[in-house]
Amino acid sequence: ALERTFSIIKPDATRRNLTGKIVDRFESAGLRVVASKRVWLSKAQAEGFYAVHRERPFFNDLVSFMISGPVVLQVLEGENAIAKNREIMGATNPANAAEGTIRKDFAESIEANSVHGSDAPETAAQEIAYFFAGIEIVG
Ligand code: CMP
Repeated sequence: ALERTFSIIKPDATRRNLTGKIVDRFESAGLRVVASKRVWLSKAQAEGFYAVHRERPFFNDLVSFMISGPVVLQVLEGENAIAKNREIMGATNPANAAEGTIRKDFAESIEANSVHGSDAPETAAQEIAYFFAGIEIVG
């Protein structure tokens, strides 16, 4: 089915000027960028976005990392966009990521892992709505 998923290019990737290389991975795989903005998240925005991880031991470090530099927030659209994006990204821990994936090629660590992508249709809808108004998404 035609789906939309939510993507973040994280501070480790914007810092190393990898935005274009990462967007090329999405577009080359048939995903379309239907919304995009570069922002520097506030602590409150990052905490709210990752609220589901609030009790995890890595939560505070994750929030600090996500506000350490600019990020690129995007909505990607395409056939099976959610699963396709997860395939393109590779495993959360770059040590476990398959050859040719973004995290294998670019990630520095499990925390500085270059990209975030929604894991399911419900979270995709929530995450898109957290950062984008409908009028900002142009298919
Ligand atoms: P992301 O898809 O953005 O969702 C939560 C993030 O927490 C995850 O990617 C990782 O970058 C980060 N993280 C840091 N440490 C861990 C860990 N031990 N297990 C899972 N995620 C972690």
